[in-house]
Amino acid sequence: MQWEARPCGAEGVHGPIPESPEWFREARRVRFDDHAPWIPTSMLLGSISGREVLEIGVGIGCDHYRLAQQGNTMTGLDLSREHLRLTTLHLQHEGLATTAVHGDAENMPFPDNSFDVVYSCGVLHHTPDFEKALSECSRVLRPGGQFICAVYHRNSICFGLGTMLKNGILKAGFIRHGWARTLAKIEHGAGYDAVPLVRVYSRGQLKSAVGRWLTVESLHATHVGSHRLEVIAKRLGISRTRLERAFGWAGWYLVLHGRKRS
Ligand SMILES: C[S@@+](CC[C@H](N)C(=O)[O-])C[C@H]1O[C@@H](n2cnc3c(N)ncnc32)[C@H](O)[C@@H]1O
Repeated sequence: MQWEARPCGAEGVHGPIPESPEWFREARRVRFDDHAPWIPTSMLLGSISGREVLEIGVGIGCDHYRLAQQGNTMTGLDLSREHLRLTTLHLQHEGLATTAVHGDAENMPFPDNSFDVVYSCGVLHHTPDFEKALSECSRVLRPGGQFICAVYHRNSICFGLGTMLKNGILKAGFIRHGWARTLAKIEHGAGYDAVPLVRVYSRGQLKSAVGRWLTVESLHATHVGSHRLEVIAKRLGISRTRLERAFGWAGWYLVLHGRKRS
């Protein structure tokens, strides 16, 4: 599997000995300061505390750590045993704990009404049956429970210019490798041989899919995510915040907050 060989979230972490406490700390710095500073606010990391939280697709546990640190009781579900191991170790280094569960978002090994919050960042666009995963998120949430997710945005600068125009058309990826393999290249480090399933969603598609199972409370796009735009903005002295304000509507992630009907 793509993520067994290349742990997700370890890219860009250089210096400390891998898997040491300093390495995980640096991974958090890279994620929250450099790579995805939108996550804490958009994904409500700072405002959830004292709840039973399920995170689907844990990576190396940076968001998991932040949620655990705030006094939430954490459960992590992932298809990758390696990610579960790294997340458990990450939390252990900081004196925190999680229940790591190997399993599939489409068939969760939890009883109905088990969690106050279901959290998932950059994961559900990888699962073959998105609707099934959403029905499972709804099933395991308690009535009134909160659903927070981020998935790839189809109508984004990243997808339009990077994937469709550059990789798909100019580099002839669609002809040479086909649609699925060209989309798989979106994942960091994926070659045309490793084919993680990747889907992209419009606002309308996401809202209507989630709306079948949960009440949609808010939906926004974020993370300009275009390296070129970021470089140009830096040269012009435009801050990241201003860049996000100007182009965030066409950002690379759609963030949805929902709630299970009481
Ligand atoms: C791109 S990584 C994102 C990890 C982390 N949330 C982050 O933002 O760094 C996707 C993760 O989701 C997991 N995953 C993909 N499909 C899944 C599914 N159907 N059920 C559970 N985990 C899944 C993968 O194993 C991987 O750990």
